[in-house]
Amino acid sequence: MTERTYRIALIPGDGVGKEVVPAAQRVLAALPLRFDFVELDAGWEVFQRTGTALPQRTASVIRSCDGAIFGATQSPSQKVEGYNSPILALRKQLDLYANLRPVVSMPAPGSRPSIDMLIVRENTECLYVRQERLEDNGNTAVAQRVITRRASERIARKAFMLARGRKREREIRRLGDWRLANESPISNLQSPISQSHNPLIPPRVTIVHKANVLSLTDGLFREACLAVAREFPDVEVEEQIVDSMIYRMIREPERYDVIVAPNLYGDILSDAAAALVGGLGLAPSANAGDAFTLVEPVHGSAPDIAGKGIANPCATILAAAQLLASLGEGEAAQRIQRAVHRTLADNIWSADLGGKAMTEEMTAAIIERLGD
Ligand code: NAI
Ligand code: MG
Repeated sequence: MTERTYRIALIPGDGVGKEVVPAAQRVLAALPLRFDFVELDAGWEVFQRTGTALPQRTASVIRSCDGAIFGATQSPSQKVEGYNSPILALRKQLDLYANLRPVVSMPAPGSRPSIDMLIVRENTECLYVRQERLEDNGNTAVAQRVITRRASERIARKAFMLARGRKREREIRRLGDWRLANESPISNLQSPISQSHNPLIPPRVTIVHKANVLSLTDGLFREACLAVAREFPDVEVEEQIVDSMIYRMIREPERYDVIVAPNLYGDILSDAAAALVGGLGLAPSANAGDAFTLVEPVHGSAPDIAGKGIANPCATILAAAQLLASLGEGEAAQRIQRAVHRTLADNIWSADLGGKAMTEEMTAAIIERLGD
């Protein structure tokens, strides 16, 4: 491990973000690495206090950091003048064009075995450009969807590179790391041979689109991805229409390796995929650019459980592991992943998993297992 000090921005945000980000911070602080944590504001609460959801200080100080951990912010469902989602703004400002959402079998209730896929979601365009307008005296609402060849090629290249890298990792690791998940008593269902667990099977990228209906926008995404695929003859490529993709991913998730999708489809697919491996409380994500990574749980601010001390911290702790991996601290990242797996395998479960462990207890249990 290195001797350098990593300056990490912590942006808890609202609701359970204020509980799970400090949990991830404690786990990082327990590693034999040096961190300088900088806490920054964003979200609904700070908007109500100051009139801005992403203070200028946050937007500028984050640039002086090596990476960031974001909790979640609460966004109103109606338009509120002056409010803009801080996570969307940060993704744009820092050009965090790839949203990487690993979906891996967990030794937890509700997790199916033999799943090891990575959803690579385009993070800068599609309907998230938020160009909406009302016409016809408010009786027609129109949203503009933007897909560019540049962003599509860039995300496709990322997906194919990652598919290649995952195969290499599998070869090194063989099945060791995932055995724990698959041998757990709760996931001892008959498990089909997994595409992504077998180091001998070539990596595969599944391109998700709806080009049969949206032939210009999704057509361009599809075409750009297929063009990039030709640069990676060692990676298998397939395409799947988004609706049947969700169906098939739920029926046979173990066959998928890397999935690449435009922004909205990737968002929806990844929440659905989280349900296959124990739920949103366990689902991490990384917003990656070429020079900076901001990690966050897939879940939101969970107002229904906020403030009760029962939020599952695992998603954010696993996201912190993704951040370490992006900083080249792969060994420390794996230590965190193993500690989370061991904690779950020891039946230490928060309420969303059907257990009684509080956020605090789960975090302490994970820290205790970091040395294993
Ligand atoms: P949500 O993800 O906050 O909650 C969905 C369900 O999952 C709830 O039942 C919640 O209790 C549960 N849950 C989520 N995280 C959990 C955790 N760590 N431990 C245990 N249970 C957990 O989604 P919802 O309710 O649709 O959105 C709530 C707010 O969050 C909204 O204001 C929304 O805009 C915002 N949101 C923010 C995101 C972000 O900041 N990146 C992402 C998604 C939603
Ligand atoms: Mg989402």
